Amino acid sequence: MNYQRWISHFERNRENRPEPDWTAPIDIPPRKLKPLLKTLAQFQLGDGGGPCCLIAIDAGRLLNRSPELERVVDLWFREEAEHARLLGRALDRFGGQPIKTHWSFRAFCRVRRWLGVRFELQVLLLTELVSTAYYRVLQRYVDDPAIHQMCALILRDEGGHVDFHRDRLAHANPSPASPLGALWQVQFWLCGLAAASVLWVNHGPCLFPFGAGNREYFGEVHREIGGFIARLVARSRAVKNRRSPVAPATAAANASTSTQAPATV
Ligand SMILES: [Fe+2]
Ligand SMILES: [Fe+2]
Repeated sequence: MNYQRWISHFERNRENRPEPDWTAPIDIPPRKLKPLLKTLAQFQLGDGGGPCCLIAIDAGRLLNRSPELERVVDLWFREEAEHARLLGRALDRFGGQPIKTHWSFRAFCRVRRWLGVRFELQVLLLTELVSTAYYRVLQRYVDDPAIHQMCALILRDEGGHVDFHRDRLAHANPSPASPLGALWQVQFWLCGLAAASVLWVNHGPCLFPFGAGNREYFGEVHREIGGFIARLVARSRAVKNRRSPVAPATAAANASTSTQAPATV
């Protein structure tokens, strides 16, 4: 996997980030502001407002593999911290206060910490996919220019995060395009739907007053997870095809000199 490509991506992505217009007039009735503040506060905590690093008990096993990989992970989490900052400014705009904890956040952190770094990466990826569905619905239904601009920035970042995960999984073993990969896809769907449901139990009722509904949110979730898997399988095949034409003699030489880390990120 080409980590340098991702370092360049994250560094480029710091440019051209117009700050949302936090002082724009607010045209949201008070009865809708209360649920909006609740959802923004919970998201501010979960989307970069908590520990902004890998917290799995064996995270060092992954990060010690390569300084470049450590740098990519650091840049990724910096963008998550930026999401927490943006959501904090949105809370300020509507007169809300950040929260320090929540049951879903505590469960999220426990799963990340105790089930190992590979599972933590999957949990974070699934959170990004279902959060993308949430931000799309938030952007569509909350008629506020600053919220709209904030969602555009976050969605742009999350698109890059999801692409990064696709790239690392396309280099993983076993390939998601293999027969064993089919089992991986089933568990990925199940975990994804569980993550989507936990998110919506908390946040759906906050967006119902704006006109958002279950069908639209879960439609977005299906598109995100299904699209991710379809593109991952295509990318895995492309990676495999790039590897397979190597002549046996060259492959043997590469095997003895290769510095590439085992693709198990
Ligand atoms: Fe985020
Ligand atoms: Fe993200």
